[in-house]
Amino acid sequence: MQLTPEQKAIGKDNFNEVVGFTRRDFIRGAAGAGAGLGALYFGYERLRGERVRTAFIGCGDEGNVLINEHPTDYMQIVAIADLRPANRKRTFTGSHPVARRGLKAVMGPEADSVKVFSSHRDLLAAKDELGLEAVVIAVPLNQHAPIAMECLDAGLHVLCEKLMAKTVTQCKDMIRLADKKGLMLAVGHQRHYSVLYANAAYLTEQGLLGDIKFIRAQWHRNNSFPNSDAWQKWDKAHPQDREVLTKMEQDGSLKEFGYDSARKLIDWRLYNETGGGLMAELGSHQLDAASIFLGKVHPLAVQGYGGKNFFGIPGLGPESAWDDDRDIDDQIFVTFEFPGRLYNPNDEQARRDISVVTYSSMNTNRWEPYGEAVFGSRATLIMSTEKEALLYKEASKASPGGIEQRIWAIESADGGTVLDSYETSAPSAAASAAAAAMGQKISRGYREEMEHFCYCIRTGRNELRCDGRVAMADAIMALTANLAMKHRKRIEFRPSWFDVDSDDVPETDPQVIG
Ligand SMILES: NC(=O)c1ccc[n+]([C@@H]2O[C@H](COP(=O)([O-])OP(=O)(O)OC[C@H]3O[C@@H](n4cnc5c(N)ncnc54)[C@H](O)[C@@H]3O)[C@@H](O)[C@H]2O)c1
Repeated sequence: MQLTPEQKAIGKDNFNEVVGFTRRDFIRGAAGAGAGLGALYFGYERLRGERVRTAFIGCGDEGNVLINEHPTDYMQIVAIADLRPANRKRTFTGSHPVARRGLKAVMGPEADSVKVFSSHRDLLAAKDELGLEAVVIAVPLNQHAPIAMECLDAGLHVLCEKLMAKTVTQCKDMIRLADKKGLMLAVGHQRHYSVLYANAAYLTEQGLLGDIKFIRAQWHRNNSFPNSDAWQKWDKAHPQDREVLTKMEQDGSLKEFGYDSARKLIDWRLYNETGGGLMAELGSHQLDAASIFLGKVHPLAVQGYGGKNFFGIPGLGPESAWDDDRDIDDQIFVTFEFPGRLYNPNDEQARRDISVVTYSSMNTNRWEPYGEAVFGSRATLIMSTEKEALLYKEASKASPGGIEQRIWAIESADGGTVLDSYETSAPSAAASAAAAAMGQKISRGYREEMEHFCYCIRTGRNELRCDGRVAMADAIMALTANLAMKHRKRIEFRPSWFDVDSDDVPETDPQVIG
């Protein structure tokens, strides 16, 4: 659905009005707080003591986004490691004026002391002389678990990018090892550290949207993401990489790092061996958000269709797409059943309290790029590209609703909050206060995620918002959806899959593979 700028502005003001009204004490605190917004929202403080000595493993696109956002007053980057010479170099010089400015711009002269390693193994061999305490891992999916396990084994705290791992068995192994060693294991689903999502989740938690029966999430693009021409571009642009990786291909060392070829390392997202498809790359974030909006519950069942319906079919799209040899699907459509607020499997009526979440991702149309729409019986919440939250009231007997109506939050007779609507062109004072307290620039949560990671390490308090267990649930949703599409089945989630102490996992479950 495309909204006019005026309708969007109303939706934003509505969201701010209701946040401003329902969280007014909190918002007042935010306005006067000395610490950063993230600290206030997510319950941590400024770091006392030394910054956490950290290394980045994997300095490609995402590693560099994280380096750009890393909190220099909580984290001291002492080393980086990457297999690709070109990526090691650009980590210092930067590759984007805003999103990836590079170590020199972010750290200033301190960047000169950052040590450089050509693999995670070389880095780990030097961990003692570096005084290393923690690592941030941003490598291809198939290497998340092996590298995280090596780092945990070496006694290092780990922040690993999402999806947590390629299998649920690997997720359980990672959590068990981190528990055994008493180390932090955080996973990079950054919506857990987004102020925007925290406020949106507060509204759903308070029941202000009414009963949520449907969430529609999507990530649609009209390019070949994951980028199938990356390989050709890279091959031309980086002769030094080519030389190094060709040698590693020939002497077998690239294989030891988990890649059959340089192509598999560069275009890892396209192959089942190295990536997890659109569901793992994109859908996992959004299912994570959907489960938060539904009360941090686990889903009951999933079914779906996925197909390689565009790339590799001569005659469709541009000629460059015809010889695309990706394994992964370019269109996926998935339906999850979640338990509603009153769901009870043992009660005939309450068993029907199901909330449906649909997810789609495709490469051929970006009419609605990415976001989540939450359809409640009292209001609709639209989260768009992690940057905007819009709220619209449902019409009721008492007052109208829809995309033209401004919401007014009022106290109900029982002390709760109800949504009313009114016709005026200006946002309320509460809306303005909430907007101011959310900050001028909406943070996607990367900085707060790293601040909290360091804070938990320094204080020894494992209060991570996206720890191994939370992230494993996200991985179970994404990986089981992949299995449902692969086996063309409706799969019921078993509680034991979510239990770290159980060895049950979807990938070996007879219901799934039988
Ligand atoms: N949280 C988010 O929103 C988000 C967004 C994009 C990517 N990601 C995740 O970040 C990770 C990396 O994605 P990307 O886009 O940066 O990929 P990328 O291909 O650009 O970068 C990966 C880097 O890892 C390096 N690498 C691989 N194995 C290594 C090893 N053993 N030692 C050292 N370096 C090694 C590669 O050489 C490469 O430079 C993926 O898991 C992806 O899912 C998360």
